[in-house]
Amino acid sequence: MAEAVNVKNIGLRGVTVADTKVSFIDGEKGVLIYRGYRIEELAEKSSFMEVAYLVLTGTLPDKNELASFTNDILGAREIPDYVYECFKKMPKEGNPMDVLQAAVPLLAMDDPDLKDDTREGNFSMAIRLIARMPTLVSAWHRIRQGLELLPADDSLSHAANFLWQLHGEKPDEEMAQALDTCLVLHADHTFNASTFACREVVSTRAHMYAGVTGGLGALSGSLHGGANAQVMKMLIELESEEDIAGWVKGKLDGGGRIMGMGHAVYKTMDPRAKYLKDMASRLGKKTGQERWHQLSTQIEQTGLEEFRKRGKTNIQPNVDFYSAPVYHIMGIPRDLMTPIFAMSRIAGWCAHVIEEKFGEAQGKPALYRPKAEYVGQYCGLMGCTYDEMESRG
Ligand SMILES: CC(C)(COP(=O)(O)OP(=O)(O)OC[C@H]1O[C@@H](n2cnc3c(N)ncnc32)[C@H](O)[C@@H]1OP(=O)(O)O)[C@@H](O)C(=O)NCCC(=O)NCCS
Repeated sequence: MAEAVNVKNIGLRGVTVADTKVSFIDGEKGVLIYRGYRIEELAEKSSFMEVAYLVLTGTLPDKNELASFTNDILGAREIPDYVYECFKKMPKEGNPMDVLQAAVPLLAMDDPDLKDDTREGNFSMAIRLIARMPTLVSAWHRIRQGLELLPADDSLSHAANFLWQLHGEKPDEEMAQALDTCLVLHADHTFNASTFACREVVSTRAHMYAGVTGGLGALSGSLHGGANAQVMKMLIELESEEDIAGWVKGKLDGGGRIMGMGHAVYKTMDPRAKYLKDMASRLGKKTGQERWHQLSTQIEQTGLEEFRKRGKTNIQPNVDFYSAPVYHIMGIPRDLMTPIFAMSRIAGWCAHVIEEKFGEAQGKPALYRPKAEYVGQYCGLMGCTYDEMESRG
């Protein structure tokens, strides 16, 4: 039998697979940069529309560019009737991430640019995908509850309109602004699993919608975007728990994971988590829901202490740890938390798809085709080596 080889870079940790100009992370220092701009600056000064434009084009828009881009997004929000019809026939218990994964290829079939694999064609598809992701999420949520669909309100921001189409009430301004900032914070994150999935799929020359469908699948997992829903599950379970320290210790002693903590790249606190932590505190105070922030900080503190005792000082809160209480305070159902991540990350996915398809960072596109070490058996015989099999003819 072939010897099992110890794969040095299991999970591709630390392996550089491409050049990119879209974003940059310094995991040791907790730095995140989109197209040259630090996340802190963007979170404080820019809207999601500006950031989506930045991530896609490489520059922040001037007034006219922003107006034109926003107008294109507003004009592309509506989805074809057959998608609504499919939604009405889907099982109401369907997980929204599965619904999104089914809906994106449905949208592809109606896209006039699907066969136009130029940069311009892909840019137009990106605009439709960014515009329609919130429509899909709110439409599915209302249809599964048997509620009427609501028309978009073009006077509202991208985030505010989503809250309106979801809840059927014009959102509080501060809540809408906070959601817009959440979208800014989630818009891109270099070669995370879902972005890599998008890039890997389109490296075969598959279209943008196929790439995004792959990205959605990767995002849904609990080690990636699905973690925010798991964090909320944990918070709800612990709402009336008095011994948080005991719970955390028991979880780690049993080999379990504290969802929303730890990161494959950050070895310090995720810079996005700091914003979301403050936001959870501020919005909690505003709405009388301070419990979620208190509970989260208690878990964070005891988690950090327990990890320290175990020699794992690198495990700190990530983006999902505090986005969960923030979304909960906004009245977002738990299973829509990961779809909201997708509503933002779609900007990054599309930017990476374009970069990949046109080889914009590394000169030319290339099909991803890594190697794997075969450690299985030959000729159905344990212990038979590859050379022995070959010599038998
Ligand atoms: C995100 C994640 C997969 C990154 O992990 P990673 O850096 O690749 O490292 P590994 O999964 O190999 O974990 C390394 C060690 O730390 C532990 N660890 C990492 N995150 C942990 C967590 N949240 N809770 C408990 N233990 C954790 C692992 O159990 C492992 O321990 P071991 O070496 O004793 O087996 C991991 O931190 C995790 O599972 N976090 C929870 C899920 C989550 O929040 N995901 C969203 C990420 S944005």
